[in-house]
Amino acid sequence: MSKSHVMSFVVGAASVGAGLLLMGVPAPKPSPVEPSPRPAIPERSTPSEAPALDSPAPARSPDLPLESGEEESFSYDPIDLESELIEPVPDVETFFEDFLEEDYHEDLVTLGERLFHDPRLSSDNTLSCASCHDLRYGGIDRAVTATGVNGQIGPINTPTVFNAAFNVLQFWDGRAANLEEQADGPPNAPGEMASNWDEITAKLAKDADLVSQLVKAFPKEDFSNGIDPEHLLTAIGEFERTLITPNSPFDRYLKGDDRAVSREAKEGYQLFKDVGCIECHNGTAVGGGSLQVLGRRRSYFKEHAAGVNLGRFNVTGEDEDRYRFKVPSLRNIALTAPYLHDGTQQSLQDVVRVMGAVQLDVDLSDAQVERLVAFLESLTGEYRGMSLDSIQNIENLPSHEPQTEDSE
Ligand code: HEC
Ligand code: HEC
Repeated sequence: MSKSHVMSFVVGAASVGAGLLLMGVPAPKPSPVEPSPRPAIPERSTPSEAPALDSPAPARSPDLPLESGEEESFSYDPIDLESELIEPVPDVETFFEDFLEEDYHEDLVTLGERLFHDPRLSSDNTLSCASCHDLRYGGIDRAVTATGVNGQIGPINTPTVFNAAFNVLQFWDGRAANLEEQADGPPNAPGEMASNWDEITAKLAKDADLVSQLVKAFPKEDFSNGIDPEHLLTAIGEFERTLITPNSPFDRYLKGDDRAVSREAKEGYQLFKDVGCIECHNGTAVGGGSLQVLGRRRSYFKEHAAGVNLGRFNVTGEDEDRYRFKVPSLRNIALTAPYLHDGTQQSLQDVVRVMGAVQLDVDLSDAQVERLVAFLESLTGEYRGMSLDSIQNIENLPSHEPQTEDSE
């Protein structure tokens, strides 16, 4: 037990980063748990260079020979942490204190962690959040699209829960304003957990141990008349705010450790800036800060006509939102194949090529792809002090304390 904050029970149902909304995206609906306004997460997450939703891509030429067979040369500029458009992920304690400006409420996080792993959130007690968002495997299910109760195959790829706290909106189409509003979705979705809060709270209310944990997490509340789902959502959201992954090799490099990443990764980062990936994938999460049209420069869906998803258009009905998706975070991206909302891209090499083509109208050479991938691979961070690379084989993840312990 590192901390014993005595806290008011209202902990953030926060739309962390609602302030980051770029123009053109309608204000999200208020969350069912009444978010308190919160400062945008890292101010620098939306650099002025980031494109507005509809700005055409500035034509940048990578200034590199693209002919195959031709010898390519690569170089890179030294890091200037103050002006880079990617910031290191803070540790959990700093995130809560400096960015969320709230105390880390251990009982609430413990409760949220437990609920995240609780299959009673599904109708037949078979699926928990963690079934689809396995924390040992990058926070995903490693499938093309998700599988709900009774083996129902879903329509879309499962994004990671790691670093979702940095997302400006949740879901591929941004239809949830924050983590609490998002967590309200799967338990009620017929194709996912196929339950409802009446059923779930009735099951949980019979569990004395869980109820005592609820009382601990919300000391001012009275649970004698049953459980209010909003408390469950608040706890799950708060737990998810601890799912951030600091200390990747690239972050150590950003902070001045020149030996933390390979030369290829440094060249890859330079390319990432030069060809323009960073216009969309920037900020602390290297993404998550805006919604952008997939196929901005060349059509994506011409070649993927089978499972056309209209993206944000499904939410707003606005033409300009056709094929618009949340720019995913690229943190831990080496672990979260297959890629894109439709799960069509199996390897990082493939998805990087697709991105160059459809978003930037650039046909990347093999050598360029290799370097970009080396950079992306350096973005794998740590959860509870362990690299996400290496926690696959661990039966039980260590408890949630170590992150705060060391620094006290
Ligand atoms: C059946 C598999 C499944 C289950 C169970 C499930 N999820 Fe998900 N999750 C998904 C899929 C698929 C998406 C993307 C859906 C979309 O964008 O339309 C998603 C999206 C999310 C996101 C948004 C991430 C982002 O980048 O936008 C978060 C956060 C999340 N889930 C958390 C949870 C929590 C918390 C639970 C438990 C209450 C849960 N999930 C249960 C499959 C699942
Ligand atoms: C115009 C904005 C934009 C630019 C520029 C851009 N991307 Fe993306 N990127 C997106 C969007 C939006 C998605 C999600 C698309 C989808 O799945 O529907 C995405 C998805 C990805 C993914 C897959 C993420 C996942 O979790 O499945 C990777 C990897 C990626 N981009 C890398 C790159 C690289 C490398 C470049 C530069 C060559 C780049 N992107 C340029 C907007 C952009």
